Amino acid sequence: MTRIGTPGTPGTPGIPGAPGAPRTAGPVSLELDGRTALVTGAAGGIGRACALRLAAAGATVRAVDRDAAGLAGLAAALPDGARGGIEPRPLDLTDLDAAERAAAGIDLLVNNAGMQLVRPIETFPPEVFHEVLTVMLEAPFRLLRGALPHMYEQGWGRVVNISSVHGLRASPFKSAYVAAKHGLEGLSKTAALEGAPHGVTSNCVNPGYVRTPLVERQLADQAAAHGIPEERVLADILLADSALKRLLEPEEVAEAVAYLCTPQASFVTGTSLVLDGGWTAH
Ligand SMILES: NC(=O)c1ccc[n+]([C@@H]2O[C@H](COP(=O)([O-])OP(=O)(O)OC[C@H]3O[C@@H](n4cnc5c(N)ncnc54)[C@H](O)[C@@H]3O)[C@@H](O)[C@H]2O)c1
Repeated sequence: MTRIGTPGTPGTPGIPGAPGAPRTAGPVSLELDGRTALVTGAAGGIGRACALRLAAAGATVRAVDRDAAGLAGLAAALPDGARGGIEPRPLDLTDLDAAERAAAGIDLLVNNAGMQLVRPIETFPPEVFHEVLTVMLEAPFRLLRGALPHMYEQGWGRVVNISSVHGLRASPFKSAYVAAKHGLEGLSKTAALEGAPHGVTSNCVNPGYVRTPLVERQLADQAAAHGIPEERVLADILLADSALKRLLEPEEVAEAVAYLCTPQASFVTGTSLVLDGGWTAH
């Protein structure tokens, strides 16, 4: 049986530890020797964990991020015995033509880069709405345009889109993020239908709240938007709808991505793998 696990090591400062996080590490069995992957937003959080996971499995990973300094240290974080490698590719994904070019020749695509702004619609800056949609929806489309010809030619490819519970449910004050993630769900399903005859699968992974800098940064915004002290945001807002009262670890998301790249998941396409602690069970 395929096990999905994580060492459950607490990481992000400012967010309390994660009681209940699994103690037994158990990586999915995955061999990607000779494959090339591209992971966006690879300098931090979930993207970093995905890049390291795919490289550990043997892939050469094009690690894309606008944070060049964050990318610079990534290769050094590869675990001993990693069979693949990291190729840092500093790139701002709002340069859509460059994004499309960067994806040429890859076998696996992980659309992960993202951002968040928590504001009511009536005061949400239109230029931020545009940027969020560009990075989180239009760039994935352009990366697919760049990646699919090679995948189709060889008859194999894997596309994993890091969506969110917010690809399936809305929350107040997150109009751009919710719109982008719902759009990404549609793009992913369309890619699944078009890619199926060519051996290409496309799926979403939908985490609840993950222990990353993105979550750390929104604690103050959430406190202001909801009119509560910052220390109450985690329990009262972020984890209110989660049956499991802990944050997810980035490595747990990376294992879900790894699973979707295994031969055992070759019939899994056009769907969403939800890691939300029971949020959408309501
Ligand atoms: N953290 C969570 O709780 C959570 C939950 C569900 C889904 N997600 C999704 O997971 C993905 C990663 O989130 P994270 O929490 O790791 O965030 P993060 O902020 O830790 O990392 C996001 C990365 O994207 C990069 N990025 C942002 N804009 C970019 C641009 N224009 N060009 C290139 N790179 C850019 C950033 O530099 C950063 O390294 C996002 O799509 C997010 O929506 C996160």
